[in-house]
Amino acid sequence: MMKDKLALAINEQIQAEFQSAYLYLAMSAWCAQANLPGCAHWLRLQWQEETMHATKLFDFVHSRGGAAHLKALDEPKSTYTSLVSVFESVREHEIYITSRINALYELAVNEKDYPLQIILQWYINEQVEEEATVMEIIERLKMVGGDGPSIYLFDRELATRTLQSTTSGQG
Ligand code: FEO
Repeated sequence: MMKDKLALAINEQIQAEFQSAYLYLAMSAWCAQANLPGCAHWLRLQWQEETMHATKLFDFVHSRGGAAHLKALDEPKSTYTSLVSVFESVREHEIYITSRINALYELAVNEKDYPLQIILQWYINEQVEEEATVMEIIERLKMVGGDGPSIYLFDRELATRTLQSTTSGQG
């Protein structure tokens, strides 16, 4: 049986993952409106990934005798000044999520909850991959001139992302 303190912390992380999903779906809408269907697609898959991150913890808390209590989500930011600023916001958000996962892991260690430590190791790896992927996108975007004409080819490349490749960290 999971301690209440841990169940509460996991529930807060479930909310954070759903909030991430919501943020990326709003970014996808911005890209779709800006005639960047490839980027819109990439961010929509990110929405799916974040939803999976949330539901993985949702299932875990139940498997450990706890209960998921879904909390309200904030309205996500929906306007951006450029595509670079969209991906910089993704990076900033992922750094924030990494700090949350690390704090949750520390709590699991302090509370000697070994199953939670094991599942969180998956999230720790995932955060390393997500931060590296978005950093690479930002670097490449800057190389092609930010929001200049080469953006068309860049957008087409992001359109090729698949959910399988993203879960293995190559998206
Ligand atoms: Fe679920 Fe992108 O962290």
